[in-house]
Amino acid sequence: MSLWQKVDERFRIANSLMWAADSTRPAMEIVYRELFLRDLSRLGLEDLYYPVGSAANHSLLYLIARCFTELPVSRVLEMGAGQSSILMSQLNDRLKKEAVLTTVEHDPQWAARIQGQVKHRVQTAALVPKTIAGHSISHYGGEYFDSSALYDFVLVDGPPAHGSKDMALNRIGAVELLEKNLAESFVLIVDDAERRGEDVLVELIRRKLRKDGRDFRETAIMAAKQQHVFAAGHCSGAVFF
Ligand SMILES: C[S@@+](CC[C@H](N)C(=O)[O-])C[C@H]1O[C@@H](n2cnc3c(N)ncnc32)[C@H](O)[C@@H]1O
Repeated sequence: MSLWQKVDERFRIANSLMWAADSTRPAMEIVYRELFLRDLSRLGLEDLYYPVGSAANHSLLYLIARCFTELPVSRVLEMGAGQSSILMSQLNDRLKKEAVLTTVEHDPQWAARIQGQVKHRVQTAALVPKTIAGHSISHYGGEYFDSSALYDFVLVDGPPAHGSKDMALNRIGAVELLEKNLAESFVLIVDDAERRGEDVLVELIRRKLRKDGRDFRETAIMAAKQQHVFAAGHCSGAVFF
């Protein structure tokens, strides 16, 4: 390795450490864990969750639980099945919300496994090539959401966008939903917002909401991962969670 390559490598390591230090707060994980466990206990729900690896971390589980408890969530679209799907199903039942939930998942085996643990539909959608905002990505194909519905709770945590450089922008496909299917009052959560790629999605959503003249607010919740939260109307309170 040449001296120049060594300097370049060190620079990239330093750069990614600074980025992580600026966009996550790992010490807050335990705070959100305590709040989440307190909320589960208040609701009489068992702690069945594994908030590790690529699954939802504690700040996301806390955020979902608080949104379902405090906001008038009625129509939900989740991209990427897992712990979050199980939690939403449990909350919907316990709080008798009767919200219509849909989870979209690209991996049929994982979809079947999560389907066995939730009451709502886990829809399998194979990934297909798409061009979004000039970028070539792989995103859910077919009618992966109900084009006649207005969603008031949207969680973007799929498809996989980590592992190789060409996957990093896969989740920007989520902007398709903003065209006609976001309710006037809504919470839209972009998980893993600390990653390069998801920051592009956050900016595309912001631009689209501004272009559409939406009166929205936004915030970021940081712990082991970061959730970027957009909210509007009756759901605006989510930016203070
Ligand atoms: C970030 S994960 C989605 C996580 C999900 N929202 C949760 O809370 O656990 C993105 C994708 O990784 C895959 N995945 C996540 N956990 C997995 C597991 N334990 N085994 C196999 N695939 C998994 C699924 O295909 C999922 O759509």
